[in-house]
Amino acid sequence: MADALKIGIAGLGTVGASLVRIIQQKSNELAATCGRPINITAVTARDKNKDRGINLGGIAWFDTPEELAAKADIDVFVELVGGSEGAAKASVKAALDRGLHVVTANKALLAYHGVEFAKIAEEKGSLLNFEAAVAGGIPVIKALRESLTGNSISRIYGIMNGTCNYILTKMEKEGLSFADCLAEAQRLGYAEADPAFDIEGNDTAHKLSILTTLAFGNQIAADDIYLEGITNISIEDIRAASDLGYRIKLLGVAQRTDTGIEQRVHPTMVPVDSVIAQVDGVTNAVAIESDILGELLMVGPGAGGNATASSVLGDIADIAKSQPGAQRVPVLGHPAKALEPYRKAQMQSHEGGYFIRLTVLDRTGVFASVATRMAENQISLESIVQRSQQHLSPSHHQTIILVTHATTEDSVRKAVAAIKGEGYLVGEPQVIRIERPKED
Ligand code: HSE
Repeated sequence: MADALKIGIAGLGTVGASLVRIIQQKSNELAATCGRPINITAVTARDKNKDRGINLGGIAWFDTPEELAAKADIDVFVELVGGSEGAAKASVKAALDRGLHVVTANKALLAYHGVEFAKIAEEKGSLLNFEAAVAGGIPVIKALRESLTGNSISRIYGIMNGTCNYILTKMEKEGLSFADCLAEAQRLGYAEADPAFDIEGNDTAHKLSILTTLAFGNQIAADDIYLEGITNISIEDIRAASDLGYRIKLLGVAQRTDTGIEQRVHPTMVPVDSVIAQVDGVTNAVAIESDILGELLMVGPGAGGNATASSVLGDIADIAKSQPGAQRVPVLGHPAKALEPYRKAQMQSHEGGYFIRLTVLDRTGVFASVATRMAENQISLESIVQRSQQHLSPSHHQTIILVTHATTEDSVRKAVAAIKGEGYLVGEPQVIRIERPKED
């Protein structure tokens, strides 16, 4: 049997501890499958004395990720520290500069430094693997980077944040508050260290920017994404969506348009009978539409220790199985030096259906005025309903819910601005975009 592959792991949180446990429990199977043993030879984490329920006996301890990356006797540096800057960035750079292979689950790091790191890895002839960075256990990176080569991709979209999907599902099914659902997601180890990254949509945006580059061959453009999180979604929206035959999901969508690439992350209404609408809890889903294959939908566990560790382990096993000096698949699917500049489509040009919920004063002519403002902006309505809210408010408010046929973001913004100027609106209007799978 060939020499063992020596790995060093930086970060022993939920994912790191799961990874150590799995590698130790499956050492014989892994050695047989990979043709060589996988040995954990070095680790680092914030607290040396914390009980993580794993055996670190015989493994060299380093005080910082940077030190481990620079000095440990390893073949592969596994970065599970998190964050786009600081120790994660410095240690990955040090490892790549040394010519080590790197495996990371760090979407923020790749979103901001992925191209620079891909160039170094490609120059050094080493591997930079990151399957766990997007959609947890779903092998979407490999699908885009390798299996779909030759396909021209038109749209890629999905549920990429387990915490948000868990919250939206629990609010709908159990009627629990947003705060209670978030606390439970944190307890289960799904959420980011700062959960604002989950619920404000940044985590989905980081993941989407990586998929966009793999799909379209452009430079990663993580800051050029239209972004709305789920903090504004109420039980009322979820119920109204359900009454109209939709469910609300936080989607990341990247789409090729005539004017460039549209990248957006926002709460989205999806038809209740679509497969993606049935994806509940921490489960993720990624749909890829392309010319040769048609629609590919991948569904699976999106967050948590084992789901993420499964992808990290797959990346390590790929390195163990690879031949030294072999031709490498480009890190981002296209040679890093050949990535095109990102051409951004303006959000105002986005075309699709919209759900609009307005709380209005109960006055004569309001309903007609809303319909008129829509017509003035060439917005065709699929439905418009009015509901009394007298049970909710002593001031005789009404709720008007509109669903539009396909229109533009620009028309909707203009119509909503006109309605705001009429003086009968109570609070802010709620606007949720509708996304339809290809088969609809
Ligand atoms: N916080 C992330 C999520 C973890 O909830 O999906 C996986 O990237």
